[in-house]
Amino acid sequence: MTPGLPMSVPAPGLPARVRIHEVGARDGLQNEQTVIPTEVKAEFIRRLADAGLDTVEATSFVHPKWVPQLADAERLFPLVSDLDARLPVLVPNERGLDRALALGADRIAVFGSATESFAKANLNRTVDEALAMFAPVVARAKDAGAHVRGYLSMCFGDPWEGPVPVPQVVRVCRALLDQGCDELSLGDTIGVATPGHVTALLTALNEAGVGTDVIGVHFHDTYGQALANTLAALQHGVTTIDASAGGLGGCPYAKSATGNLATEDLVWMLQGLGIETGVDLDRLTATSVWMAEQLGRPSPSRTVRALSPSLGSHDSHKE
Ligand code: HMG
Ligand code: MG
Repeated sequence: MTPGLPMSVPAPGLPARVRIHEVGARDGLQNEQTVIPTEVKAEFIRRLADAGLDTVEATSFVHPKWVPQLADAERLFPLVSDLDARLPVLVPNERGLDRALALGADRIAVFGSATESFAKANLNRTVDEALAMFAPVVARAKDAGAHVRGYLSMCFGDPWEGPVPVPQVVRVCRALLDQGCDELSLGDTIGVATPGHVTALLTALNEAGVGTDVIGVHFHDTYGQALANTLAALQHGVTTIDASAGGLGGCPYAKSATGNLATEDLVWMLQGLGIETGVDLDRLTATSVWMAEQLGRPSPSRTVRALSPSLGSHDSHKE
């Protein structure tokens, strides 16, 4: 066994390779109280790409008053657009699409909600008004040759509405795909999903004609279920997993959303299962340690803490 890496013991019935969709620079940093300098964000994205992440979500072209943390999108994107990695950006509407396309973005993501309460809080629209807002965005993005991801938040539970019925989620997923989205990302925005619920939603989507190949999953670790939910998704054949370096993140419009699944925790499990990711765990951990220094607090990722003596975790083994 190599120090700093898990022993690789494959389990039957799992994919050979997984694409990690890294969201730390967008989903993570959109939630920070302090303003992070644009150059630091650019360095973060560079280091993530250098660690082998081939999809690094860069920023959002949303209203700067709604998410001031990402108001520097116009300055940031050109600083990283030379990277080989795919650099998706979030756009809620045509104004956002115009801004993204003007800078040469070729992967965009719209972001809907399975629930009315979050649609209102996040987009100032009902679920169907938000879909109507996305329709010309998706059509124009496709015309421009861009890849389009359709995020869907609150797929399992909602802080205002409680548990979210599976058919309600399936309806909005279908609508996003019918508009022309190339892939979905099923968000457990407040981290309340458990593995059986994940399998039930994936099965219902398949029954509604949605292939597993267009489904990504986006788990939050609020109740410590993110890796268990990921394993359920892998067992179902999902090969796109969203994660955030160092476990950064939450959501500014869903107060009970805590950290995203940490990319390091995900990579540790995937390496242990013998699943290829292309990610260098040492480099990734070093990046999250560096980012934690920029933010002035330790990473919540268990793997980052275990692998980085400077965060004090090794001492804690002696307690
Ligand atoms: P609104 O107030 O209804 O906007 O907000 P509007 O359409 O009425 O327009 C009002 C003004 O905003 C206009 O300017 C527009 O031009 C301007 P005026 O004519 O008054 O001078 N405007 C913009 N300016 C810059 N860029 C834009 C833009 N759009 C309008 N794109 C809006 C509606 C959608 C804009 C707003 O609600 C918004 O920006 N929301 C984004 C919120 C957000 O980014 N939330 C976090 C991301 S979602 C998430 O975190 C979940 C996810 O990570 C999955 C998970 O974790 O589960 C994806
Ligand atoms: Mg998230």
